[in-house]
Amino acid sequence: MKMSTVFVGLVAATFSVMAMAQTPIVIKFSHVVAADTPKGNASVFFGKRAGELTKGKVKVEVYANSSLYKDKEEMEALQLGAVQMLAPSLAKFGPLGVREFEVFDFPYLFDNTAELHRITQGPLGASLLAKLEARGIKGLAFWDNGFKSFSANTPIKMPADMKGKKFRIQSSKVLEEQIRAVGGLPQVMAFSEVYQALQTGVVDGTENPISNLYTQKMHEVQKHLTLTNHGYLGYAVVVNKKFWEGLPADVRGQLEQAMKEATAHANKIAQEENDQALEGVKKSGKTTIHVPTADEKLAFKKAMAAVHVKMADRVGKDLLQSIYKETGGFDPSKL
Ligand code: LMR
Repeated sequence: MKMSTVFVGLVAATFSVMAMAQTPIVIKFSHVVAADTPKGNASVFFGKRAGELTKGKVKVEVYANSSLYKDKEEMEALQLGAVQMLAPSLAKFGPLGVREFEVFDFPYLFDNTAELHRITQGPLGASLLAKLEARGIKGLAFWDNGFKSFSANTPIKMPADMKGKKFRIQSSKVLEEQIRAVGGLPQVMAFSEVYQALQTGVVDGTENPISNLYTQKMHEVQKHLTLTNHGYLGYAVVVNKKFWEGLPADVRGQLEQAMKEATAHANKIAQEENDQALEGVKKSGKTTIHVPTADEKLAFKKAMAAVHVKMADRVGKDLLQSIYKETGGFDPSKL
């Protein structure tokens, strides 16, 4: 072989090794909400910090608004490794078989974010995330959105106003019971389909934190919004376990740091974003906003208390009791 051929070969090999060394590890992060939401913003924040801390070794591609996968498909895609990272709402882990996560769907389980954080940011939260490992999923963090409110095309002041009306919910047996407890008809549907379903009258109403309602423009097709704050909606940030464990240890450590910072950011902006969204709904003038009176609030709490009794076995009585103990509890007998 001629020396020049060997030289050319060596140069080509060196370049391809260099190119390989520079090819970033890509993390596809798929989610179903708008970019301008707590989850949308926090995922971009994570991507930015991941790039900085790994010095470009990791590139996070964020796909918002169900542009890659819808609700149910995204969990399958994660398990198959077609996407590496997600932040599904906690309700979405019930259909995966990890029913304990449906405890977060219990109405009035938390009175405020401080109570909630005692669970999500404490040992109980960590033990819940660990349950995902058997499904090939590694749980990294809990991110907040906020408390849900009911909207509909007719006013909702008392539970009786929901009677016979169809309400879109996420796929959760606890949420089904919650709607039934007030006489409504639960309709499970993917998040990306809610706007059209409300617009065409396939369903009469829905529940979501205001940031989701506003950024999906649901307020344009809902005449009434009642600030019930009757239940929590937040997220677990999860990765494909095999992918995560296959990362070089130093990169994984840097990503853990990026996730820690993104979690602090997410939980800081969540309330602000929901407050801004409420302002947006008010300004639009399209939806009448009702703030329930103390009596109206109590009526909803009383009506939904049955869910705690009926669904305790489904999520585990011990888990429910541990949460009550940490948060001061929900005692229907005292209502
Ligand atoms: C919903 O389906 O209502 C929510 O889970 C959407 C989300 O991810 O916030």
